[in-house]
Amino acid sequence: MCGIIGYTGKRNAKDVILSGLFSLEYRGYDSAGMAVVSEGKTVTVKTAGKVKMLENAANSLNLCGSIGIGHTRWATHGAPTFENAHPHTQGRVTLVHNGIIENYAKIKTALEKEGYRFSSETDTEVAAALIDSRLSAEGDPLKAIGSATEKMRGSFAFAMIIEGFPNVIFAARRDSPLIIGTGEEEAFIASDITAILKYTRNYLIPESGDIARVTSDGISVFDSDLLPVAREKKVSVWDTESAEKGGYPHFMLKEINEEPTAIKNVISGRIKNGVPDFSGDGENIVARLASTDRIFTVACGTAMHAGLFGKYITEKLARRPCECELASEFRYKNPIVGKDDAVIVISQSGETADSLAALRLAKEKGAFTLGIVNVAASSIAREADNVIYTRAGPEIAVASTKAFTVQATVMTLLSVAIALESGKIDAETAKRITSELSYELPEAIKILAGDDGHIKKIAAEISKSENAFFIGRGIDRYAAEEGSLKLKEISYIHSEAYAAGELKHGTLSLIGEGVPVIASACDRALYEKTKAGLSEAKARGAMTVFVSPADICTEKDGDFVIALPCISEYIAAISAVTAYQLLAYHTAVMRKTDVDMPKNLAKSVTVE
Ligand code: F6R
Repeated sequence: MCGIIGYTGKRNAKDVILSGLFSLEYRGYDSAGMAVVSEGKTVTVKTAGKVKMLENAANSLNLCGSIGIGHTRWATHGAPTFENAHPHTQGRVTLVHNGIIENYAKIKTALEKEGYRFSSETDTEVAAALIDSRLSAEGDPLKAIGSATEKMRGSFAFAMIIEGFPNVIFAARRDSPLIIGTGEEEAFIASDITAILKYTRNYLIPESGDIARVTSDGISVFDSDLLPVAREKKVSVWDTESAEKGGYPHFMLKEINEEPTAIKNVISGRIKNGVPDFSGDGENIVARLASTDRIFTVACGTAMHAGLFGKYITEKLARRPCECELASEFRYKNPIVGKDDAVIVISQSGETADSLAALRLAKEKGAFTLGIVNVAASSIAREADNVIYTRAGPEIAVASTKAFTVQATVMTLLSVAIALESGKIDAETAKRITSELSYELPEAIKILAGDDGHIKKIAAEISKSENAFFIGRGIDRYAAEEGSLKLKEISYIHSEAYAAGELKHGTLSLIGEGVPVIASACDRALYEKTKAGLSEAKARGAMTVFVSPADICTEKDGDFVIALPCISEYIAAISAVTAYQLLAYHTAVMRKTDVDMPKNLAKSVTVE
């Protein structure tokens, strides 16, 4: 969480920083700030609130420098106030930070004894003071950063300006994401590539523990022993357009509409002779998964729901034991996992702290690890034994949409491959599901996304409520989980997901006049049973919405019915989630919430 940016070159640093911060705002939007070296002096501007407010404040000043750093904050230590906004200055050091310094209180006490005084409640101001203190002792900025970071426990990506070094930005990272972009006589530091795509697609990623000295003439990277190291140069396949709204009112709607293309991209090159083929992603991935004792899918939030889809389909189709675990639980439960198991970590950002920690734990225990990741060269992608990239392009809206669709698509394709490898399905079945994923699913989603107002009409009803329930059986139970998360996340309507058979075991007492109960039944074997669950809610006054394949549902199935334009269970269930995404989107728009940046959240959760 938090986005950081730095620039040095010939352009107006303020403009580059603001543009970068607007792109990074999805990482946090509690406060924003920047420091620019203008006419030899470091000028800091900050505001509580979003980057737009910072832009207004910065534009009222004559900031003409061409070197500077910026920050958009998701509060960890200290409230989202002006005082706690970054950058923080202590002595000669002005610093922006993404991460958490766990032992900051102890360091702060020691620094106070040295005479440092603090005006914020942040761990970042303490980091700035510690580096300044080490600078006084060491004289050399690299040594100062090295010895200061050695004393810090936790994670960080720092960008800093140090008085006396007017043309340099220093950067350091441990675990938190950080890239360095390179251009013609200019350089950039950013939390991710989308912040600088407007200027360059060339970048490198410092390893955890690296310190960098960045000037417009060149970049030097040092390892934790301060020895110069070369880090691989990369070129992003994303372009500026993919990180902009392209005429849509919100990123979320744009990203839902990108799902058909994203599905085609993720499948492309992964089919041979009509069946799934992951050989391009690494040798023997499928054979390894098919021969392990157990498969775990591990992730957080929406990505975990894709893991639940994976669990369900792997068990049903491949008849292999598969557990889905929340990364934040898995990492602390001393899981029973070892060298005969496989752990699949699913993550859009590839940087989620709990998912990364779960991956490291699984590796430590000797399991085969596979990352299903969207962001190229992110930590999970680099650290897993193998990675399958989901190729969805940048996802900017905080609420995940297309990332889920491609994760669920990959999990389905992978389950089909494992089932075929283990002889649990024949080639014809594998070909049928693969073809449905490749053609039927993108078409169905295109039709749903082009909805001419039916889903909006349902959203108008839901938007009047303060509570909602999603139910389903089998795979639909997991679609319900994701639908419910999406609705509450962006519309702020309290929502819960239940297995359809569970309502009568307590929850029915919450159902009253007009309370929306939304059910999907993509598994036709469970259609009647799910309908019965919905009828029980209807009998208690609920406003019911029924979602199921067009060939089995009828208008009488609910107060409102969404007929999915696809037939088979797994494919229909993925498209049901798209219908839920649209329902959540329109509901949130009607409730006038900040759809792309819901309150209190951030896209990339790099703290645990
Ligand atoms: C919800 C949402 C989150 C993420 C979760 C994991 O809409 O986006 O629940 O799915 O924070 O993030 P990644 O996939 O980046 O690991």
